[in-house]
Amino acid sequence: MKVLVTGGAGFIGSNFVIRAREQRPDWQLTVLDLMTYAANLSSLDRVVADIDIVKGSVTDADLVDELVAAHDVVVHFAADSHNDNSLDDPWPFIDTNIVGTYQLLQAVRRHDKRIHHISTDEVYGDLELDDPAKFTETTPVNPSSPYSASKASADLLVRAWVRSFGLRATVSNCSNNYGPRQHVEKFIPRQITGILEGVRPKLYGAGANVRDWIHVDDHNDAVITILEQGRLGETYLIGADGEMSNRDVVLLLLELMGKPADWFDLVPDRPGHDLRYAIDATKLRTETDWRPAHPDVRSGLADTIDWYQTNQDWWRTAKVVAETRYDRLGR
Ligand code: NAD
Ligand code: TYD
Repeated sequence: MKVLVTGGAGFIGSNFVIRAREQRPDWQLTVLDLMTYAANLSSLDRVVADIDIVKGSVTDADLVDELVAAHDVVVHFAADSHNDNSLDDPWPFIDTNIVGTYQLLQAVRRHDKRIHHISTDEVYGDLELDDPAKFTETTPVNPSSPYSASKASADLLVRAWVRSFGLRATVSNCSNNYGPRQHVEKFIPRQITGILEGVRPKLYGAGANVRDWIHVDDHNDAVITILEQGRLGETYLIGADGEMSNRDVVLLLLELMGKPADWFDLVPDRPGHDLRYAIDATKLRTETDWRPAHPDVRSGLADTIDWYQTNQDWWRTAKVVAETRYDRLGR
């Protein structure tokens, strides 16, 4: 099977390529990535001899058409992915996440290929902190930020192309990922690399917001499972029951890294900050044999800390750029 992986030099995409090489060595993998600030080509060092890498944009209709024609399946990770950046400058989110997805859908339709679209639980908006409810596949979309609105828009385009044109597509909406090779602008790597540099963690607001953490390998195993066992036209939520407040995540990182429990600062909150995300993954668990292999966030975080400690060359330059941007945002 020839698989085109968009965004394959980013966090989840690069882990997907590494995972797919291990688990499905007969797949031929091509990465299409614009190599934005969020990409890191060295993430693919381990597999570079076994894959093709094309630098280009999912918004480039001619390039997308040519690549889709030459592959059997598209796994579409490419996106601008950071909420804080989308509040600062929404345009790349509209362009890549909506227009880019449109170009892929049209090419997939023209060449009668299969696509799996990677999305986020953030399209559903947020839940109250004390609400026992979780998101399911029937929760209405209700996005809060330019990022989540752009992802919801893309999800709706996929659904429309399935219904109107019979496109062979599936969608997955996953909760917050953690693990190796995540950009240092994101919450967990920002705090781990900060602690390694002697900087106290920074919690937005009161640190009470809740995210539902999943190890990136569990997300990618679910994507491989949906490619092989998912029903065409369907949406699957991916989550591993990893709900934690941001404050509890920071307390755990401090404990694992040998710092006192009060060694953090509260900083101004993100505008429109979603309170809580939580996934009910019953459909995926019922229809497929996927189960998370890393349900213990504590040991997953310990491994992630080790990775950032061992791979400081991977993140040092990006860290300076990310913190300069946060200084400007006052966070
Ligand atoms: P990331 O920012 O680490 O990587 C995104 C990659 O896409 C980068 O390599 C970047 O260069 C590439 N890219 C950006 N614009 C492009 C364009 N126009 N054409 C081609 N490539 C382009 O993001 P991530 O965290 O790996 O997220 C990957 C996907 O998973 C996204 O669709 C995101 O919405 C989704 N998702 C992320 C999470 C999470 O917790 N990070 C959770 C659920 C879903
Ligand atoms: P983030 O990694 O940006 O993911 P998302 O916004 O997609 O959930 O942030 C995760 C949570 O951590 C979110 O509630 C915002 C919060 N946060 C902080 O408290 N401090 C930080 O420095 C960052 C980057 C995020």
